[in-house]
Amino acid sequence: MSSKKHARIIGMGSYLPSKILSNADLEKMVDTNDEWIFSRTGIKERRLAGETEYTSEMGAKAALKALENAGVAVEEIDIVLVASMTPDYISPSTAVIIQRLIGAKNAAAMDLQAACTGFIYGLSMAKAYIESGMYKNVLLIASEKMSAFVDYEDRNTCVLFGDGASAAVISKEHSGLSIDAICLGADGEMAELLYIPAGGSRQPSSTASLENRQHYIKMEGKELFKHAVRQMAGASKECLAKAGLSDTDISWLIPHQANVRIMDAVAKNFSMPKEKVFKTIDKYGNTSASSIAIALDELQQQYDIQKGEHLLLVAFGAGLTWGASVLTKI
Ligand SMILES: CC(C)(COP(=O)(O)OP(=O)(O)OC[C@H]1O[C@@H](n2cnc3c(N)ncnc32)[C@H](O)[C@@H]1OP(=O)(O)O)[C@@H](O)C(=O)NCCC(=O)NCCS
Repeated sequence: MSSKKHARIIGMGSYLPSKILSNADLEKMVDTNDEWIFSRTGIKERRLAGETEYTSEMGAKAALKALENAGVAVEEIDIVLVASMTPDYISPSTAVIIQRLIGAKNAAAMDLQAACTGFIYGLSMAKAYIESGMYKNVLLIASEKMSAFVDYEDRNTCVLFGDGASAAVISKEHSGLSIDAICLGADGEMAELLYIPAGGSRQPSSTASLENRQHYIKMEGKELFKHAVRQMAGASKECLAKAGLSDTDISWLIPHQANVRIMDAVAKNFSMPKEKVFKTIDKYGNTSASSIAIALDELQQQYDIQKGEHLLLVAFGAGLTWGASVLTKI
């Protein structure tokens, strides 16, 4: 498939807060232990944003790095898209706060909510804007302060999530990672498998909702696990077919970093050695929308991806939502 006309990622940047929450720290907070967490999830530690370190601030820091790496001036950005399930406010969007923080004065700005699949949904929007000719430069940011919505009294969820941000500049020209194919999906029948019951218009904040801890993430882990494997494997296959590639053409699989066992189970569907599945989960846990973008950024820093190499991104998240994308180095 020719990559010539496709939108491409021309620069990335990430931001991880410095504070580390280790499994040993969690042992002091809930009834858990390092052996359980690591063997069931692959997570050793995760990062926590400071109290006044917001989703917008982390996103802005990642965005400035991405702009620098892309060699694009902030004034050249046409739209700021922010993928997040942990926005600063319900309204206005985190995108406008980031627009203000970085001075993207010529840009439109909006948030998109597809939970952990947010970065891939965002890539699809950036691709459409650019390939339609509507915009030249899109700044896509994924930023999550999961710790603001995690119940640190619930061992089923608090061991999994971490904070962090990553950003990508997507443009029409220059070398980078061509966005060759994207496949997206959703199934609202399972909306409550992972959700935050209160704080929205359906159950506005009240003394009762706070007392019942309804402002925190609630999750059916076992059910999600099964759907995650099935949907990520399906989306990957569909996207490879769309790109006209087979699994042996892929240099790296970059899955959403939710659970190492989910990633390995997805990889089993492909003739892909485990070493070609890129993982950051041990260090950062599940950073929701940011996870794939942080991993993609780190992959490019650690390995010199050569022209013509193909990467496969695949994600899954609350909603349910899922998506995959084939990228080619050009
Ligand atoms: C959550 C998850 C790690 C649990 O792993 P699992 O192997 O399915 O574990 P189970 O749910 O079978 O629980 C096994 C036992 O461990 C217990 N347990 C749960 N969390 C624990 C913890 N942090 N420490 C110790 N024990 C724990 C459970 O209570 C259960 O005990 P029980 O058998 O007495 O009821 C796993 O299901 C998962 O990763 N699911 C997907 C979650 C996800 O990705 N969410 C985000 C989507 S983007």
